[in-house]
Parts: sequence; structure tokens; C-alpha cells
Amino acid sequence: MTTAPTHAKGLEGVIAGETEICKVEQAALIYRGYEIADLAANASFEEVAYLLLVGEKPTPDQLAAFKSELVANRNLAEPVLKFLRSSGDLVNHHSAVPMDILRTAVSIAGHMDQDCQDNSPEANLKKSKRLLAKIPTIIGHMQNSIDRTDFIEQDPTLSHSANLLWMMTGKNPSEEAVKVMDVSLVLYAEHDYNASTFTSRVISGTLSDMHGAVTGAIAALKGPLHGGANEAAMDMLAEIRTDIGHENDEAKINAWMQSAFANKRKLMGFGHRVYKNGDHRAPILHALGRKAAEARGDDFVKLFELGESVQNIMETQKNIFPNVDFPCGMTYFTMGIPVPQYTPIFVASRITGWCAHIMEQHANNRLIRPRVAYIGPAPRNWND
Ligand code: COA
Repeated sequence: MTTAPTHAKGLEGVIAGETEICKVEQAALIYRGYEIADLAANASFEEVAYLLLVGEKPTPDQLAAFKSELVANRNLAEPVLKFLRSSGDLVNHHSAVPMDILRTAVSIAGHMDQDCQDNSPEANLKKSKRLLAKIPTIIGHMQNSIDRTDFIEQDPTLSHSANLLWMMTGKNPSEEAVKVMDVSLVLYAEHDYNASTFTSRVISGTLSDMHGAVTGAIAALKGPLHGGANEAAMDMLAEIRTDIGHENDEAKINAWMQSAFANKRKLMGFGHRVYKNGDHRAPILHALGRKAAEARGDDFVKLFELGESVQNIMETQKNIFPNVDFPCGMTYFTMGIPVPQYTPIFVASRITGWCAHIMEQHANNRLIRPRVAYIGPAPRNWND
């Protein structure tokens, strides 16, 4: 009997390509040469989006033109609007969740994009900007449909982050809320060969189109081991609160955690394939989210205190650190965002990273087609 060649389960540690877009290390996350803490402190989401898509930081004129182009592309074609009018029913009465609605809406948007089948660099850049501009509109209209209200129209005076909040709620967001949203989008924008980006590269590596690659990436991001973890992390904290109340009794928190450990439960928002000593995006978002909670009131601060206790137990007893999705769940909850929209909001940011990778793949393509070790039955005859 031949033994199968060894392989890295989950492709752990495998270098599967080259990129100029992003570098993920234990102690640094770098977008095109700029460290994430620098970007979170000093760059707007639109500046980071431009950096990722075009390759360089924009000049003030380039940024102004980019923002105008995004605003001009926010509206959706009638077939997408028609689908979104039915999305509330699909979520409220059928089996869809917002990530599914977003996936289908992006796919329909592709049918209406005149450059859909054109993979040239010029067409791909145009499509990247259109997708970036339209995704908040899709999320907003979908939430309106779920809430059974009329579609809230985009506000061309608002930034990407502010408009996203406005379209979901119809309330003018505070400056602080916009800042928190903007930083969260900067933190989420890009992360090298994570599962959804790798998916987008495999699809575009067949010379398939950008909308198809993004549709596949959305499906990959949905899973709770990837982007879906921000929703799952908040669901887990809500479950702890249901089980032990809101008073953050340390003994009860510890007992809940010991039971989770005994049941070998994966705690959502913790752990990472690359960052084994902690995800440095997490403390940046935690600090901002906590400040928002302090402004919002006692129960929100208690949520963060619960999160801090859970984090402390995970770190001291398991040596496992929170990833960015853990503070994201608490932060978006504090901002009053419905939990099932947390991962779609992640898409409103990561679309930049995906599109940059799809363009990089198309510009220097080779089909991505690895091998697999066969471990099935030995050869046998059908008539035996
Ligand atoms: N809760 C409990 N234990 C965890 C854990 C978590 N969130 N993450 C990792 N571990 C444990 C594993 O059970 C494993 O323990 P073992 O060696 O006793 O079996 C050990 O840590 C190593 O983890 P492993 O499953 O090999 O890590 P991975 O690289 O395959 O998986 C994740 C990485 C992100 C999929 C994993 O940490 C996870 O499922 N986290 C929760 C989901 C999440 O937050 N995803 C967002 C990622 S940004």
C-alpha cells in the first residue's frame, strides 16, 4: 500500500502566491507598506480604499475625484432594487440571512454592469469602484426591507461610513459613530490570503469575472470561522448574558467558561490561523468600542466588561487571544446595528481587498490548481 504524500491540513503555513497588496506578520499588518495602526489613526476609509485599489496614497485632488466617483455610483439598477424589495420577506419568512441577500444582490448587479465580462485593468478598476459604492446601498435597502420601511435614499454629502449608517437607520449618525465605523472599515479592509480572498483569487484565476469572484468571496466570508465570527461573537456574549444575567458575576462567568472548555466549544472571536500571540487590530477597535459604550450607558459598559472577563480567562487559561471580530461584535452592538448586518458591513470594507487581489490575479495570472492526496478505496471492479 502506498502512503499518501504529506500535506498541510487547511493549507497551514503554505505560501500559495505573491502579492504587493498586504503583509500579515505576528507583530504587524501592512497595507502596501503602511502599518495598520498608522492607517487606523491617520487615514480615512476612502483613502485606504484608494491605496488598496490603485496602489498609492491619493493626493487631495485624487481623493476628491475618487469620492465623487463613489457617490455617483451608489445607486442601484432596477433589477437589484426589485430583488431587494423582496429581501425582507426572504429574511423574515424564509431561510435567507443578510449575507445571502448581499451575495445575490452583487450577482444581479453583475448582470447590469456593462463591463461585467471585461477583465482588463481599466474595466476591473471601474467595477471595483462600482462595487465599493453600491454595497452600502444594498445593505441599507436590505435593512429597510427587513424593517418594512421605504428605501432610504443615499446622501451624497456623506462619507462611505456615514452614508452606510444613514441608509440602514434613517438617522443622522453622530461624528463619534462615524469615526468608529470608519476605523472598523479600515481595520477590515485587507488581510492577504484569508479564506474569502483566496476564494476570489481561485475564481479569478480561471479568468472568470470580478462580480463572480466577489460573489464567491461573500459566500466564504459568511462562515463563522471567518467573517461570520463578528456576529457569532456577539451571539455568544448574548447567550452568556441570558445564562448568567447582566451583573457580570465573576464566579458565574468562570463557571460558564469552564463548561465551554469541558464541552470543547470554540469561542467565537478568539484564535487566529496566523496571529498566535494576538491580533493587533483587536485592541484598536476594543478601545474605540469601549469609549462608545461609555458614552452610551451602563449596560453597554457592562457588555464590554463581560467581554474583558471572557478575554482574560481565554488568555490566562488557554493562551488564546481575541481576533478583531471579538471587539467588533461588542462595538457594532453598542452602535445599535442589527447583529445579522455585522458581516455584510465587513463586506462593505473587504470589497476593497478582494478587488485589489482580483486585479492582481488577472494582471499576472496562472490557474490555481493544487493537487490532493487520495485516501479513498483501492482500485476495485464494478462487477465484483
Ligand atoms: N476557542 C477555543 N479553542 C480554540 C479556539 C477558540 N476560538 N481557537 C483555537 N482553539 C484551540 C483549538 O481547539 C486547538 O486546540 P487543540 O490543539 O487542543 O485541538 C488549538 O487552539 C489550535 O487551534 P486550531 O484549530 O489549530 O486553529 P486554526 O488555525 O485551525 O483555526 C480559527 C483558526 C480562527 C478557525 C480558530 O481559532 C477558530 O475557530 N476561532 C473561532 C472563530 C473565529 O473567531 N474566527 C475568526 C478568525 S479571524
